[in-house]
Amino acid sequence: MTKKITVLGSTNIDRVVSVPRFAQSGETLHTDSHLTNAMGGKGLNQGVAVARSGVQTNMITKVGREFNIAENMAVKNLLTDHVMFSETEETGQAYITVSEETGDNMIYIYGGANADLTVSDVNDHKDAIIESEFVVAQLEIPIAAVIAAFKIAHENGVKTILNPAPMPETGGLPEELLELTDVIAPNEHETFLLTGVAITDEESLLRNAVYYFQRGIDTVIITLGSQGAFYMRDNGETKLVPIFKTTAVDTTAAGDTFIGAMATRLNKDLSNLEDAMVYGSAASSVTVSRPGAQPSIPFENEVLAILAAHADVI
Ligand code: RIB
Ligand code: NA
Repeated sequence: MTKKITVLGSTNIDRVVSVPRFAQSGETLHTDSHLTNAMGGKGLNQGVAVARSGVQTNMITKVGREFNIAENMAVKNLLTDHVMFSETEETGQAYITVSEETGDNMIYIYGGANADLTVSDVNDHKDAIIESEFVVAQLEIPIAAVIAAFKIAHENGVKTILNPAPMPETGGLPEELLELTDVIAPNEHETFLLTGVAITDEESLLRNAVYYFQRGIDTVIITLGSQGAFYMRDNGETKLVPIFKTTAVDTTAAGDTFIGAMATRLNKDLSNLEDAMVYGSAASSVTVSRPGAQPSIPFENEVLAILAAHADVI
């Protein structure tokens, strides 16, 4: 069986404006950039990252009636049979400013149809999950839907990867969700909201990992922005995987690319986690160097070219 990955998550229309720097509260700034619209959403971005790395992707997502699948999801290997339409809500939207100074962004999201993705929607599409090796999810859709998907996965021997983004500001996550997660991949801020332990040094990274190990998660990946990504497994393995340096134009979807691309390289037993993370990191460096979310996500040949160029140092 060829490998398939299911990505469950959001689809957004990103409305992006680039700004000379972020404004302070109450401040007015000029921009020379027109508003651009592009496809995004953490779910779809991760799905596109998987598909462009050559793996067939079952995309489980919900959009508004006005959404045109043929126009907006025409990505080779991205299978759209599991895209659903909301009867009441329009497609989710993200309002994004990108700083020309640093390439960093600020994002406000309106959930729309994403918020309408229910447990029964997931159950209706359980075949997509069952035929996959991995199911990947984030938190721009209701948590109950993610739990339902991960339950189906575990009942059928499918591994689960959770990117807890965005993390709710308070209240943490249901224990049940963590217990159904095999690989968790938060960033520094998200892991702090989950565990209450701020990342300051290696010891704090390990304390974060232990929190997850105690809940049955055996693989923890914490992304550290420009410092790379750290992984810890409950067999004692730990490693810092550095980033591939590039000029940051727009970091939007960098984390999504890392996760989706990495997932395509993972063995089912996760025995090659480091190599998979290096691949994800190379893919993410391309996304950072180009504007937009989905348009900036690289194809496999671009990622392989970067790895070849760095072959001597990896
Ligand atoms: O992670 C980047 C994504 O976050 C954007 O594409 C935007 O839609 C928001 O969901
Ligand atoms: Na980008």
